[in-house]
Amino acid sequence: MEAHKQLTIGLFGFGVVGEGLYKVLQQTPSLKATIKKVCIKNPDKKRNAPQELFTADKNELLFDKEINVIVEVIDDADAAFDIVSVAFQQGKAVVSASKKMIAEHLAEILEFQKQTGLPFLCESAACASIPVIRNLEEYYDNDLLHGIKAIINGSTNFILTRMFEDKKEFNEALLQAQQLGFAESNPKLDVEGYDSVNKWSILLCHAYGIVEHPSNILFSGIQNIQLSDAVVAKEKSYDIKLVGQAQKLSNGKVAAYVLPQFVKQDDQLSFVKNEYNGVVIESGFADKQFFYGKGAGSFPTASAVLSDISALRYDYKYEYKKKYYHTPGELTHDFYVRT
Ligand code: HSE
Repeated sequence: MEAHKQLTIGLFGFGVVGEGLYKVLQQTPSLKATIKKVCIKNPDKKRNAPQELFTADKNELLFDKEINVIVEVIDDADAAFDIVSVAFQQGKAVVSASKKMIAEHLAEILEFQKQTGLPFLCESAACASIPVIRNLEEYYDNDLLHGIKAIINGSTNFILTRMFEDKKEFNEALLQAQQLGFAESNPKLDVEGYDSVNKWSILLCHAYGIVEHPSNILFSGIQNIQLSDAVVAKEKSYDIKLVGQAQKLSNGKVAAYVLPQFVKQDDQLSFVKNEYNGVVIESGFADKQFFYGKGAGSFPTASAVLSDISALRYDYKYEYKKKYYHTPGELTHDFYVRT
């Protein structure tokens, strides 16, 4: 794709993120990116956009020669992977927010990129508004990256915050997260940690070049945490947070997991409340950096999709710091090797 080329987008999905992107693009005409067609399941449903924009026929987007970017923000991971595969075959750049699909197909997506040379960007797939993927990709050297710990799911953090601060019962807080548009359509994915581990596998790839299916990463959600746990933790000056953690061990391997943890109230992650996400990166010579921002919701997620679309104007690609191709990191399940 030439630099500064007009971007003509075929958009898959018009839910919380898709509609958010549509509105955000309307407010950023300088980007020179227009949505030509939107593919959704039910094109007859009344929406806040011109009816002629919508179709249920994915081929109208995938085989339209004028469309040079496919933006895919749908829920169904299998359908999303089919779309991405055909988009690559058709020579189109891809922007995706489908964390489950990306996590489950990392190796294939990397191979597609290698073979086609086409960009595949997914900044919105982890931590929504926080530009963490490109930072991990561009800024941190694999060898110097000592560790990362992060809150990467807005809904569970929202639930835990409401339990801690308002003594809300779990189910009441979950309902509120759903009403605010933070939760997945199947909230079990948030609550039981699946969404977090999917995002963690994506971040491990960009941090260390580790390509692991999420089912190989140890994880648990917050399904067993009760209001009484929150009360006891608070009495002892701790928060309970669902934390993704990756640590480089002395043998060079990376121990990684997503688990609920007690977090001291003076820890950076303790400041991360509600649907916000936070990432603490520890690297050689630099000590720690703390990234903070909204991790769920329509506009915060759309803002990350927008930044990917913008990056396509200058043909930006993840090069995986040559990690994946040359010296990828290695995941270990031996969490007891001390550094
Ligand atoms: N359900 C997700 C979350 C949405 O709560 O973090 C953003 O990925």
